[in-house]
Amino acid sequence: MSRKKEIRFKQNQEQFNVIQEGKPLFDTIKGNWKKEFFKNNNPIVLELGCGKGEYTIGLARLFPEKNFIGIDIKGDRIAVGSNKAIEENLKNVAFLRAKVHDLENFFLENEVSEIWITFPDPHHLQSGIKRRMTNQRFLEIYRKLINDSGILHLKTDNRPFFDYSLETLQNFGVKNLVHTFDLYESNLNVRHYGIKTRFEEIFTQKGFSINYLFCEFNIKKGLSN
Ligand SMILES: C[S@@+](CC[C@H](N)C(=O)[O-])C[C@H]1O[C@@H](n2cnc3c(N)ncnc32)[C@H](O)[C@@H]1O
Repeated sequence: MSRKKEIRFKQNQEQFNVIQEGKPLFDTIKGNWKKEFFKNNNPIVLELGCGKGEYTIGLARLFPEKNFIGIDIKGDRIAVGSNKAIEENLKNVAFLRAKVHDLENFFLENEVSEIWITFPDPHHLQSGIKRRMTNQRFLEIYRKLINDSGILHLKTDNRPFFDYSLETLQNFGVKNLVHTFDLYESNLNVRHYGIKTRFEEIFTQKGFSINYLFCEFNIKKGLSN
């Protein structure tokens, strides 16, 4: 392991805003984010596969009246976001080191108001379809966790992944699905608040346009489409 990774892993163990295995809140935080961590009753927004947390941090700066949780399996990446949040004294930010597959271990039904999926791995091979974050099995999880007025957002440079996501979401029965294949040139541009993730910067510089969608997730719970 590189020295840099070692330092970041150690920081994750010490820093209050990282929830990960082995730390007290990891096993008890489900249903208790507002009471035990944020100490307020503000809505909870998740960023799935947050990497270094640029979006989580960017949104947290703009919306102090909401709570933001960046989620990723890679500890060295979330350490970067955790450091930034501490540096800026952002009290409305937490990072959770966990797999998106396991979200139900950390959130109760209806505990979440909004989900952002930012530049997820596209898993372009047929064999990887089940791991796409907009695969039906993930949508079933999001449906349980998102409350009745909840919203899902997706940003990606990857057009085949985006087309797949549009189809799975439509088939799933989400409401008011709005999308663009070129975010910066569309009238939806204001909706991403000018915040760019690390992968977004990389792909924009390579000349890719950014696909974006949002939809309402107030689908009757318990229904299977
Ligand atoms: C392509 S990167 C994008 C990172 C960041 N959102 C950005 O736009 O710069 C995808 C991220 O998703 C994380 N990831 C992939 N599958 C995951 C899963 N099942 N659960 C949690 N994180 C996952 C990876 O560790 C990686 O940091």
